[in-house]
Amino acid sequence: MGAIISGLGVYYPDNVLTNADLERMVETSDEWILTRTGIRERRILPEDSPLKASDLGARAALNALEKAGLKPEDVGAIIVNAIVPDKQFPAVACIIQEKIGAKNAFAFDITAACSGFVYGVNLASLLIESGQCRHVLVIGAELLSRAVDWTDRNTCILFGDAGGAAVLSAGPADRGVIRSLLRSDGSYADILYLDPLLNSAAGKDGGGSCIRMDGKQVFKVAVTEVTRVVTDALALEGLGPADLDLFVAHQANVRILGAIGEKLGLPEDKVVVNVQRFGNTSSASVPLALQEAEQAGRLKPGMLVGLAAVGGGMAWGCNILRW
Ligand code: UT7
Repeated sequence: MGAIISGLGVYYPDNVLTNADLERMVETSDEWILTRTGIRERRILPEDSPLKASDLGARAALNALEKAGLKPEDVGAIIVNAIVPDKQFPAVACIIQEKIGAKNAFAFDITAACSGFVYGVNLASLLIESGQCRHVLVIGAELLSRAVDWTDRNTCILFGDAGGAAVLSAGPADRGVIRSLLRSDGSYADILYLDPLLNSAAGKDGGGSCIRMDGKQVFKVAVTEVTRVVTDALALEGLGPADLDLFVAHQANVRILGAIGEKLGLPEDKVVVNVQRFGNTSSASVPLALQEAEQAGRLKPGMLVGLAAVGGGMAWGCNILRW
């Protein structure tokens, strides 16, 4: 039995924060942001919005279920990654379960930062292949703006808010996730982190914790390790990067995506890029980019698709799928 992606869903706030807006907030420029990151704008939930990470995730999940032609009751498990959870506990996955009415599911969160979606897809495929579940929701529910230091130009230009979700369902053995490979290295724990959030307004007024990052180091690890893990995963299937028809990696920086694509020898048209409009939305970024690729008709049955991500931990990994 295979685990196929039967539906993809997204939700992002209407509110757009442009580079010009950031120029008024910190010492930066549209030109610097564009050339160093490729980002033009990102979606940010307004400060006075009552929505939480679970709302972004729940809306994306309902969208994914609708695309899959399924009801919330059909879902057997919900796996969520949320860097800024609604509460320390219970899991955001349980809150989403209640919000969407997935009363037959068990639900839990994982902490794999920007790699949460590819980690979740790996776990979901195992639950399906073992026969434990028929349909599993994997959700990136990311409200990063609540943990951004809006006075730190090194980080505040990068991140955006979004929910991204996929339903994985039991399908034919020769389709869906054919190989996942996950890796992590805790010796990098201090190059990208967020200390415990002290209150829900964290980051906004200096009263809470904020995302801290050694950008240069993260950049290097990202390019080296994502290239390696994708190459290794493909090799385990007797395949190489040239066999990939489409590559959808975590959208952190257009230069990182370009460097990985180049190292893998992929032509530009095989590498999906939408970071320019959303910034880095952590674990929501892969489903967001994948859903756009699907809508644009870039995904066809039989294609070999690579999903990859890297982030805090550091934790990274990939899923190779036969679409
Ligand atoms: O999901 C994973 C999360 N994070 C990432 O993927 C981030 C990975 N890293 C990156 O994307 C890049 O390292 C950055 C975009 C964060 C930075 O680009 P860079 O080419 O590595 O720049 P840099 O850190 O070497 O900074 C170059 C200069 C510095 O000035 P000095 O020290 O050379 O005088 C920075 O202070 O640019 C300065 N700088 C800025 N200038 C204008 C840093 N941020 C800004 C800014 N506007 N927003």
